[in-house]
Amino acid sequence: DKVAVIMPAAGRGRRFERDENKLFALLDGKPIWLQTVLRLRSNQRVGPIVMPISAADESSFRDGYDDQLQQLDVQLVTGGKERIDSVQCGLQALTDWPDDGLVAIHDAARPLVRSADLDQVFDKAALCGAAILAVPVTATVKRSSDGGLSCRTVDRSELSLAATPQVFRLALLRQAYQRHRGRPATDDAQLVARSGHDVALVHGASDNLKVTLPTDLVIAEAILKIQNETP
Ligand code: CTP
Ligand code: MG
Repeated sequence: DKVAVIMPAAGRGRRFERDENKLFALLDGKPIWLQTVLRLRSNQRVGPIVMPISAADESSFRDGYDDQLQQLDVQLVTGGKERIDSVQCGLQALTDWPDDGLVAIHDAARPLVRSADLDQVFDKAALCGAAILAVPVTATVKRSSDGGLSCRTVDRSELSLAATPQVFRLALLRQAYQRHRGRPATDDAQLVARSGHDVALVHGASDNLKVTLPTDLVIAEAILKIQNETP
């Protein structure tokens, strides 16, 4: 079965330090958001894509891309103040999707996700109802609770960095968003876990970079080159 995708793109990209949304920066000659759409479309299981954007960005997304958006089955909707609000706007647009169908939430700022990892996390979500891509922590992690006067090493064997896609049965995701009522959360899995449902962790490739800082664009170009040489 197909997987619907909500692709939040309504941020400002403040940490990227440009005047316009970072998603318009060119990666291998195409805007980052379009590279992300094309990457998703390279996977046969990806169904309709709903893309929350900010109203201020609408003409920048449409101008020159209106036909392509239609061909790629991407529906633009207006997003919200925080990422969570934008996802909520995306959920409201998924009116035709069955309750037991899968929905993936994938950051528009992650153009490098591998199709094989999409398959892995889709499969896991189909089995468990909720699954996310994550990358095992390779750094040595320290915890300090006294402002840095002393620190202890945290056992990293249990630690992973959350990535996207985060994939859920639609009914489960809707329920989690209905219950959240403004409590802060930095990802969708947190809301679903709070609502009482287990979220499975799928270890994906570590090159699924989220473009956040200006240097990330340089790294993304290099990763893309390597991926194109050794798919
Ligand atoms: N996002 C969104 N709506 C918001 C905020 C973020 O749809 N109100 C999207 C971003 O466009 C991005 C994804 O969520 O694709 C991940 O967020 P992040 O990397 O933090 O992007 P920005 O919020 O744009 O960047 P920054 O936090 O540096 O301003
Ligand atoms: Mg942000």
